[in-house]
Amino acid sequence: MLIDGHGRSVNYLRVSVTERCNFRCQYCMPEKPFSWVPTENLLSFDELFKFIKVAIDEGINKVRITGGEPLLREDLDKFVKLIHDYKPDIDLAITTNGFLLPNVAHKLKDAGLKRLNISLDSLKPAVAAQIAQKNVLSHVLEGIEKALEVGLTVKINMVPLKGINENEILDILEYARERNIRIRYIEYMENVHASSNIKGMHGKEILNVIKSRYTIKKIGRVSNSPSFNYEIQENGYIFGLIDPHKHDFCEDCNRIRLTAEGHLIPCLYFDEAQSIAEAVKENNIDRATAILKDVLANKPKENRWGSDDEENSSNRAFFETGG
Ligand code: 5AD
Ligand code: SF4
Repeated sequence: MLIDGHGRSVNYLRVSVTERCNFRCQYCMPEKPFSWVPTENLLSFDELFKFIKVAIDEGINKVRITGGEPLLREDLDKFVKLIHDYKPDIDLAITTNGFLLPNVAHKLKDAGLKRLNISLDSLKPAVAAQIAQKNVLSHVLEGIEKALEVGLTVKINMVPLKGINENEILDILEYARERNIRIRYIEYMENVHASSNIKGMHGKEILNVIKSRYTIKKIGRVSNSPSFNYEIQENGYIFGLIDPHKHDFCEDCNRIRLTAEGHLIPCLYFDEAQSIAEAVKENNIDRATAILKDVLANKPKENRWGSDDEENSSNRAFFETGG
């Protein structure tokens, strides 16, 4: 078992396989970054897997593959299979924008994938195109259907934005409910890469929209998840709200992140990171293990989201770490 410097047990590793994306979501990456990580700096799947093995051996039992858009990396199903075959009972998931899913959902399922989180911010083609800055909706919806068809468990993420998709909070809830999939509303997190023209909705405002149709009951946070769950009394449907502006979830934060270049990041909101790239290239398992333990020992106690203490917050892009 892995325990960090504040006594929290850490069992969850998020691995970003690329920071590149085929969308330009206004809340994440409206402009193509000035420069991408050069391709030669990316770790190969074998190199990333070497570290993942170390992490699993030390007690990680949940791995999520993220991006950028992870499906942009060719043969992602082979990477999924490496991880799955090493420990088939691992909780293995991918976060994707869904665009490329129609062609690969079955391969991912066959490789051992169990779960997918897919972003769906609008059911209107023009609004989806306004947010992602590309005509994306038909592919994304097809991707969701395909994933369900092959038997993957799907969750949907929606980021409600004022004046853009705020009037679709209930429509997307019904879309998810009809398919018996979970939706999580995510409060927009301000960041330096996002468009300056957008304004997020507060968790309370999101809940008020849902309360205009339904009676909702607080259920609570499933341990370690940043999502707070609510149940709709009229039909028993459960949805989640991720409210990063409250930092009560730092208390039992169970996660660390690995970037495609091999930076091991203890907390999304801080710039500290250590590289495991050399260690895996040299096949130095002891060194990789030592770095993992050192990063955990220094994992910050809580995020400083919403504090004015700019020096202590991070400029790291969400697309680098997959959120
Ligand atoms: N605020 C809130 N959520 C974000 N995501 C990406 N950027 C932001 C942001 N600035 C979410 C997307 C996607 C997931 C990877 O992260 O909705 O579902
Ligand atoms: Fe790409 Fe996801 Fe960022 Fe949108 S939110 S630009 S899909 S990485």
